[in-house]
Amino acid sequence: MTLLQFNRHRRLRRSDSMRALVRETHLQPEDFIYPIFVIEGKNKRNAVQSMPGVDQVSLDLLSREMQELVDLGIQSVIVFGVPAEKDAVGSQAYHDHGIVQKAIRQIKEEFPELVVIADTCLCQYTDHGHCGIIEEGKILNDPTLDLLARTAVSQVRAGADIIAPSNMMDGFVAAIRHGLDEAGFEDIPIMSYAVKYASAFYGPFRDAAHSSPQFGDRKTYQMDPANRLEALREAESDVAEGADFLIVKPALSYLDIMRDVKNNFNLPVVAYNVSGEYSMIKAAAQNGWVNEKEIVLEKLTSMKRAGADLIITYHAKDAVRWLKDN
Ligand code: PBG
Repeated sequence: MTLLQFNRHRRLRRSDSMRALVRETHLQPEDFIYPIFVIEGKNKRNAVQSMPGVDQVSLDLLSREMQELVDLGIQSVIVFGVPAEKDAVGSQAYHDHGIVQKAIRQIKEEFPELVVIADTCLCQYTDHGHCGIIEEGKILNDPTLDLLARTAVSQVRAGADIIAPSNMMDGFVAAIRHGLDEAGFEDIPIMSYAVKYASAFYGPFRDAAHSSPQFGDRKTYQMDPANRLEALREAESDVAEGADFLIVKPALSYLDIMRDVKNNFNLPVVAYNVSGEYSMIKAAAQNGWVNEKEIVLEKLTSMKRAGADLIITYHAKDAVRWLKDN
Protein backbone atom coordinates (compact mmCIF):
# COMPACT_ATOMS: atom_id res chain seq x y z
CA MET A 1 0.00 0.00 0.00
CA THR A 2 1.26 3.47 -0.80
CA LEU A 3 1.81 5.65 2.20
CA LEU A 4 -1.21 7.94 2.67
CA GLN A 5 -1.02 10.78 5.17
CA PHE A 6 -4.31 11.72 6.82
CA ASN A 7 -5.92 12.15 10.26
CA ARG A 8 -8.26 9.57 11.76
CA HIS A 9 -11.03 11.69 13.35
CA ARG A 10 -13.24 8.65 13.63
CA ARG A 11 -11.04 7.30 16.45
CA LEU A 12 -12.89 9.57 18.86
CA ARG A 13 -16.33 8.54 17.62
CA ARG A 14 -16.07 4.80 18.09
CA SER A 15 -18.55 4.33 20.93
CA ASP A 16 -21.15 6.15 23.01
CA SER A 17 -18.74 6.46 25.89
CA MET A 18 -15.88 7.64 23.67
CA ARG A 19 -18.15 10.30 22.20
CA ALA A 20 -19.29 11.34 25.68
CA LEU A 21 -15.65 11.68 26.72
CA VAL A 22 -14.88 14.26 24.04
CA ARG A 23 -18.24 16.07 23.98
CA GLU A 24 -17.68 19.83 24.16
CA THR A 25 -21.19 21.10 24.92
CA HIS A 26 -23.62 19.86 27.56
CA LEU A 27 -27.23 20.74 28.34
CA GLN A 28 -28.50 20.72 31.91
CA PRO A 29 -31.77 21.73 33.61
CA GLU A 30 -30.17 24.90 35.03
CA ASP A 31 -29.61 26.19 31.49
CA PHE A 32 -33.29 26.73 30.89
CA ILE A 33 -35.66 29.59 31.63
CA TYR A 34 -39.31 28.64 31.14
CA PRO A 35 -41.78 31.27 29.85
CA ILE A 36 -45.23 31.36 31.44
CA PHE A 37 -48.37 33.27 30.40
CA VAL A 38 -50.67 34.34 33.20
CA ILE A 39 -54.28 35.49 32.82
CA GLU A 40 -57.00 36.90 35.04
CA GLY A 41 -59.90 34.71 36.16
CA LYS A 42 -60.36 31.43 37.97
CA ASN A 43 -59.69 27.87 36.91
CA LYS A 44 -58.67 28.96 33.43
CA ARG A 45 -56.27 27.11 31.23
CA ASN A 46 -56.41 28.33 27.64
CA ALA A 47 -54.40 26.33 25.16
CA VAL A 48 -52.52 28.62 22.76
CA GLN A 49 -53.59 27.27 19.37
CA SER A 50 -50.42 28.21 17.55
CA MET A 51 -48.15 26.81 20.29
CA PRO A 52 -49.12 23.20 21.08
CA GLY A 53 -48.22 22.38 24.68
CA VAL A 54 -48.30 26.02 25.83
CA ASP A 55 -51.22 27.32 27.92
CA GLN A 56 -52.26 30.61 29.42
CA VAL A 57 -53.10 29.87 33.06
CA SER A 58 -54.97 31.70 35.78
CA LEU A 59 -53.29 32.30 39.12
CA ASP A 60 -55.15 29.57 41.02
CA LEU A 61 -53.60 26.98 38.68
CA LEU A 62 -50.11 28.42 38.85
CA SER A 63 -48.85 26.53 41.91
CA ARG A 64 -49.17 23.17 40.23
CA GLU A 65 -47.31 24.50 37.18
CA MET A 66 -44.47 25.83 39.30
CA GLN A 67 -44.24 22.63 41.34
CA GLU A 68 -43.79 20.69 38.12
CA LEU A 69 -40.87 22.95 37.09
CA VAL A 70 -39.21 22.72 40.49
CA ASP A 71 -39.55 18.93 40.47
CA LEU A 72 -37.85 18.83 37.08
CA GLY A 73 -34.96 20.95 38.32
CA ILE A 74 -35.80 24.06 36.30
CA GLN A 75 -34.71 27.04 38.36
CA SER A 76 -36.11 30.00 36.56
CA VAL A 77 -39.25 31.34 34.88
CA ILE A 78 -39.97 34.44 32.84
CA VAL A 79 -43.46 35.82 33.40
CA PHE A 80 -45.68 37.30 30.67
CA GLY A 81 -48.99 38.83 31.63
CA VAL A 82 -52.17 38.90 29.59
CA PRO A 83 -54.19 41.70 31.23
CA ALA A 84 -57.99 41.88 31.14
CA GLU A 85 -57.88 45.56 30.22
CA LYS A 86 -55.68 47.60 27.91
CA ASP A 87 -55.34 51.34 27.38
CA ALA A 88 -53.26 53.82 25.39
CA VAL A 89 -50.42 54.00 27.93
CA GLY A 90 -50.40 50.38 29.09
CA SER A 91 -51.18 51.30 32.69
CA GLN A 92 -51.78 47.68 33.73
CA ALA A 93 -48.08 47.08 33.16
CA TYR A 94 -47.12 49.23 36.15
CA HIS A 95 -50.18 48.69 38.34
CA ASP A 96 -49.18 47.19 41.69
CA HIS A 97 -52.03 44.71 41.32
CA GLY A 98 -51.52 44.04 37.63
CA ILE A 99 -51.62 40.43 36.52
CA VAL A 100 -47.83 40.05 36.43
CA GLN A 101 -47.37 41.67 39.84
CA LYS A 102 -49.96 39.32 41.33
CA ALA A 103 -48.38 36.30 39.69
CA ILE A 104 -44.88 37.19 40.86
CA ARG A 105 -46.04 37.83 44.43
CA GLN A 106 -47.74 34.45 44.50
CA ILE A 107 -44.85 32.52 42.97
CA LYS A 108 -42.27 34.05 45.29
CA GLU A 109 -44.43 33.31 48.32
CA GLU A 110 -44.79 29.65 47.45
CA PHE A 111 -41.46 29.03 45.71
CA PRO A 112 -38.95 31.52 47.10
CA GLU A 113 -36.05 29.62 45.56
CA LEU A 114 -37.32 29.98 41.96
CA VAL A 115 -35.61 32.82 40.09
CA VAL A 116 -38.50 34.88 38.76
CA ILE A 117 -37.78 37.09 35.77
CA ALA A 118 -40.24 39.81 34.77
CA ASP A 119 -40.54 40.67 31.08
CA THR A 120 -40.74 44.44 31.12
CA CYS A 121 -42.60 45.82 28.12
CA LEU A 122 -45.82 47.64 27.30
CA CYS A 123 -47.12 45.88 24.18
CA GLN A 124 -49.36 43.40 25.99
CA TYR A 125 -50.89 46.28 27.94
CA THR A 126 -51.45 48.94 25.26
CA ASP A 127 -54.65 48.95 23.19
CA HIS A 128 -52.60 49.72 20.06
CA GLY A 129 -50.19 46.85 20.77
CA HIS A 130 -46.99 48.87 20.40
CA CYS A 131 -44.18 48.81 22.95
CA GLY A 132 -44.29 52.55 23.61
CA ILE A 133 -46.46 55.63 23.92
CA ILE A 134 -47.88 56.88 20.64
CA GLU A 135 -48.42 60.41 19.37
CA GLU A 136 -49.60 61.11 15.83
CA GLY A 137 -48.76 57.60 14.76
CA LYS A 138 -45.19 57.81 16.09
CA ILE A 139 -43.79 55.65 18.86
CA LEU A 140 -42.20 58.07 21.31
CA ASN A 141 -38.88 57.07 22.81
CA ASP A 142 -38.16 59.19 25.88
CA PRO A 143 -41.67 59.44 27.39
CA THR A 144 -41.86 55.65 27.16
CA LEU A 145 -38.74 55.28 29.32
CA ASP A 146 -40.48 56.63 32.42
CA LEU A 147 -43.24 54.06 32.09
CA LEU A 148 -40.74 51.23 31.68
CA ALA A 149 -38.89 52.30 34.82
CA ARG A 150 -42.19 52.45 36.71
CA THR A 151 -43.11 49.00 35.42
CA ALA A 152 -39.77 47.55 36.50
CA VAL A 153 -40.01 49.06 39.98
CA SER A 154 -43.52 47.69 40.52
CA GLN A 155 -42.41 44.25 39.31
CA VAL A 156 -39.50 44.23 41.74
CA ARG A 157 -41.77 45.42 44.55
CA ALA A 158 -43.88 42.37 43.80
CA GLY A 159 -40.79 40.19 44.20
CA ALA A 160 -39.16 39.87 40.76
CA ASP A 161 -35.55 38.71 41.01
CA ILE A 162 -34.50 39.92 37.54
CA ILE A 163 -35.89 42.58 35.20
CA ALA A 164 -35.88 41.69 31.51
CA PRO A 165 -36.77 44.74 29.41
CA SER A 166 -37.79 43.73 25.90
CA ASN A 167 -39.02 46.94 24.43
CA MET A 168 -36.06 48.24 22.39
CA MET A 169 -36.47 51.94 23.10
CA ASP A 170 -33.08 53.68 23.20
CA GLY A 171 -31.88 54.19 26.76
CA PHE A 172 -34.19 51.60 28.32
CA VAL A 173 -31.45 49.96 30.35
CA ALA A 174 -30.18 53.31 31.67
CA ALA A 175 -33.71 54.43 32.57
CA ILE A 176 -34.58 51.17 34.31
CA ARG A 177 -31.24 51.00 36.15
CA HIS A 178 -31.77 54.54 37.37
CA GLY A 179 -35.37 53.82 38.39
CA LEU A 180 -34.43 50.67 40.28
CA ASP A 181 -31.51 52.34 42.05
CA GLU A 182 -33.67 55.30 43.11
CA ALA A 183 -36.18 52.87 44.59
CA GLY A 184 -33.44 51.12 46.55
CA PHE A 185 -33.26 48.09 44.26
CA GLU A 186 -29.60 48.40 43.27
CA ASP A 187 -29.16 44.64 43.81
CA ILE A 188 -31.65 43.62 41.12
CA PRO A 189 -29.99 42.63 37.83
CA ILE A 190 -31.16 43.62 34.36
CA MET A 191 -31.35 40.93 31.70
CA SER A 192 -31.59 43.12 28.64
CA TYR A 193 -33.12 42.06 25.36
CA ALA A 194 -30.05 43.79 23.99
CA VAL A 195 -30.22 42.41 20.48
CA LYS A 196 -33.80 41.94 19.37
CA TYR A 197 -34.67 41.71 15.71
CA ALA A 198 -37.96 42.67 14.05
CA SER A 199 -38.76 39.05 13.37
CA ALA A 200 -41.56 37.02 11.82
CA PHE A 201 -40.64 34.29 14.31
CA TYR A 202 -42.65 36.08 17.03
CA GLY A 203 -45.98 35.35 15.33
CA PRO A 204 -47.27 32.62 17.65
CA PHE A 205 -46.22 34.55 20.79
CA ARG A 206 -48.43 37.43 19.77
CA ASP A 207 -51.35 34.99 19.87
CA ALA A 208 -50.28 33.78 23.28
CA ALA A 209 -49.77 37.24 24.73
CA HIS A 210 -52.38 39.12 22.66
CA SER A 211 -49.71 41.65 21.74
CA SER A 212 -49.87 42.19 17.98
CA PRO A 213 -49.46 45.78 16.90
CA GLN A 214 -52.83 47.10 15.71
CA PHE A 215 -51.18 49.19 12.98
CA GLY A 216 -47.78 49.17 11.34
CA ASP A 217 -44.92 47.03 12.60
CA ARG A 218 -42.05 47.21 15.08
CA LYS A 219 -39.33 48.07 12.58
CA THR A 220 -38.61 51.53 14.00
CA TYR A 221 -37.51 50.00 17.30
CA GLN A 222 -36.60 46.35 16.69
CA MET A 223 -33.57 45.57 14.53
CA ASP A 224 -33.24 44.78 10.85
CA PRO A 225 -32.46 41.04 10.41
CA ALA A 226 -29.84 42.00 7.83
CA ASN A 227 -27.59 43.72 10.36
CA ARG A 228 -24.68 42.40 12.35
CA LEU A 229 -22.57 45.42 13.34
CA GLU A 230 -25.70 47.09 14.63
CA ALA A 231 -26.13 44.18 17.03
CA LEU A 232 -22.74 44.96 18.53
CA ARG A 233 -23.65 48.63 18.86
CA GLU A 234 -26.90 47.70 20.62
CA ALA A 235 -25.12 45.34 23.00
CA GLU A 236 -22.37 47.88 23.66
CA SER A 237 -24.90 50.52 24.71
CA ASP A 238 -26.66 48.13 27.05
CA VAL A 239 -23.40 47.08 28.66
CA ALA A 240 -22.45 50.73 29.15
CA GLU A 241 -25.90 51.46 30.62
CA GLY A 242 -25.54 48.69 33.20
CA ALA A 243 -26.99 45.47 31.76
CA ASP A 244 -26.08 42.29 33.67
CA PHE A 245 -27.14 39.76 31.01
CA LEU A 246 -27.47 40.12 27.22
CA ILE A 247 -30.31 38.41 25.36
CA VAL A 248 -30.09 37.61 21.67
CA LYS A 249 -33.49 37.11 20.08
CA PRO A 250 -34.57 35.14 18.07
CA ALA A 251 -32.01 32.38 18.51
CA LEU A 252 -31.95 29.91 15.67
CA SER A 253 -31.47 32.23 12.71
CA TYR A 254 -29.11 34.40 14.75
CA LEU A 255 -26.49 31.98 16.05
CA ASP A 256 -23.77 34.02 14.32
CA ILE A 257 -24.87 37.07 16.30
CA MET A 258 -24.86 35.04 19.51
CA ARG A 259 -21.25 34.07 18.89
CA ASP A 260 -20.34 37.70 18.14
CA VAL A 261 -21.96 38.88 21.36
CA LYS A 262 -20.24 36.13 23.35
CA ASN A 263 -16.84 37.00 21.90
CA ASN A 264 -17.18 40.74 22.37
CA PHE A 265 -18.62 41.06 25.87
CA ASN A 266 -17.96 39.44 29.19
CA LEU A 267 -21.53 39.07 30.35
CA PRO A 268 -23.76 35.98 30.43
CA VAL A 269 -25.44 35.56 27.04
CA VAL A 270 -29.04 34.40 26.88
CA ALA A 271 -30.64 32.85 23.79
CA TYR A 272 -34.35 33.44 23.36
CA ASN A 273 -35.62 30.40 21.48
CA VAL A 274 -38.78 32.15 20.32
CA SER A 275 -42.32 31.02 19.64
CA GLY A 276 -42.01 30.57 15.87
CA GLU A 277 -38.95 28.38 16.34
CA TYR A 278 -40.94 26.27 18.78
CA SER A 279 -44.11 25.99 16.74
CA MET A 280 -42.37 25.02 13.50
CA ILE A 281 -40.88 22.00 15.21
CA LYS A 282 -44.16 21.13 16.92
CA ALA A 283 -46.01 21.24 13.60
CA ALA A 284 -43.44 19.13 11.80
CA ALA A 285 -43.32 16.63 14.68
CA GLN A 286 -47.11 16.31 14.74
CA ASN A 287 -46.93 15.40 11.07
CA GLY A 288 -44.29 12.80 11.79
CA TRP A 289 -41.78 14.64 9.61
CA VAL A 290 -39.06 15.08 12.24
CA ASN A 291 -38.01 13.38 15.46
CA GLU A 292 -39.03 16.00 18.01
CA LYS A 293 -36.76 14.89 20.84
CA GLU A 294 -33.65 14.71 18.70
CA ILE A 295 -34.28 17.92 16.81
CA VAL A 296 -35.03 19.90 19.97
CA LEU A 297 -31.96 18.68 21.84
CA GLU A 298 -29.86 19.34 18.74
CA LYS A 299 -31.05 22.92 18.37
CA LEU A 300 -30.69 23.70 22.09
CA THR A 301 -27.16 22.28 21.99
CA SER A 302 -26.40 24.48 18.97
CA MET A 303 -27.42 27.56 20.92
CA LYS A 304 -25.04 26.72 23.75
CA ARG A 305 -22.30 25.89 21.27
CA ALA A 306 -22.86 29.30 19.67
CA GLY A 307 -22.20 30.99 22.99
CA ALA A 308 -25.45 31.00 24.97
CA ASP A 309 -25.05 30.49 28.70
CA LEU A 310 -28.81 30.30 29.24
CA ILE A 311 -31.78 29.54 27.00
CA ILE A 312 -35.31 30.88 27.33
CA THR A 313 -37.37 28.12 25.75
CA TYR A 314 -40.90 26.71 25.62
CA HIS A 315 -39.27 23.29 25.19
CA ALA A 316 -37.72 23.45 28.69
CA LYS A 317 -39.92 20.85 30.40
CA ASP A 318 -39.66 18.36 27.54
CA ALA A 319 -35.95 18.95 27.17
CA VAL A 320 -35.28 18.21 30.84
CA ARG A 321 -37.34 15.02 30.66
CA TRP A 322 -35.49 13.90 27.55
CA LEU A 323 -32.11 14.67 29.11
CA LYS A 324 -33.07 12.49 32.06
CA ASP A 325 -34.06 9.63 29.71
CA ASN A 326 -30.76 9.79 27.87
C1 PBG B 1 -42.69 41.69 23.98
C2 PBG B 1 -42.09 40.38 23.61
C3 PBG B 1 -42.20 39.64 22.42
C4 PBG B 1 -41.58 38.41 22.65
C5 PBG B 1 -41.08 38.44 23.95
N1 PBG B 1 -41.39 39.68 24.53
C6 PBG B 1 -42.91 39.89 21.15
C7 PBG B 1 -42.65 41.01 20.29
O1 PBG B 1 -41.66 41.74 20.38
O2 PBG B 1 -43.49 41.20 19.44
C8 PBG B 1 -41.49 37.28 21.66
C9 PBG B 1 -41.30 35.94 22.23
C10 PBG B 1 -41.56 34.82 21.31
O3 PBG B 1 -41.86 34.95 20.12
O4 PBG B 1 -41.47 33.69 21.83
N2 PBG B 1 -42.10 42.81 23.46
